[in-house]
Amino acid sequence: MNRKEFISKLGVGAAFVLTTPCIIGCTKDSANTPDELEVDFIVDLNEFDSLRSPGSFIITNNIVVANNIDGQYIAATQKCSHEGLNQVKYDKFADNWECTAHGARFAQDGDGLNANGSGGLTTYNVTQDGDMLRVFS
Ligand code: FES
Repeated sequence: MNRKEFISKLGVGAAFVLTTPCIIGCTKDSANTPDELEVDFIVDLNEFDSLRSPGSFIITNNIVVANNIDGQYIAATQKCSHEGLNQVKYDKFADNWECTAHGARFAQDGDGLNANGSGGLTTYNVTQDGDMLRVFS
């Protein structure tokens, strides 16, 4: 093997070694967003006492769980459809979801309310059994 052949083979091998972990890593990361996973978890109100107050919210498991101004529990992904940032919160003054990154707004059912929110928002079901809230897709 001459020098040219050696460098040529090294280049192909190095490119494979460098790109393979990135491809595997990127695929794994994107699969872990709440939008792509089956969501089903319990929120114990004894651990999140503030959530008993209308207009409040918590963020757990990358999901925003809110008690809206009417006292109903609602939930949505924290990941905004605009640029994918995890900055969605519940806005008690507007009684809907907002992304603090660029102002996207979403109705409680996830419908977009402005241009940045036009992609909509994934929302989840919430049922209550005593002090336990079940959040699920
Ligand atoms: S990422 Fe949410 S408004 Fe841009």
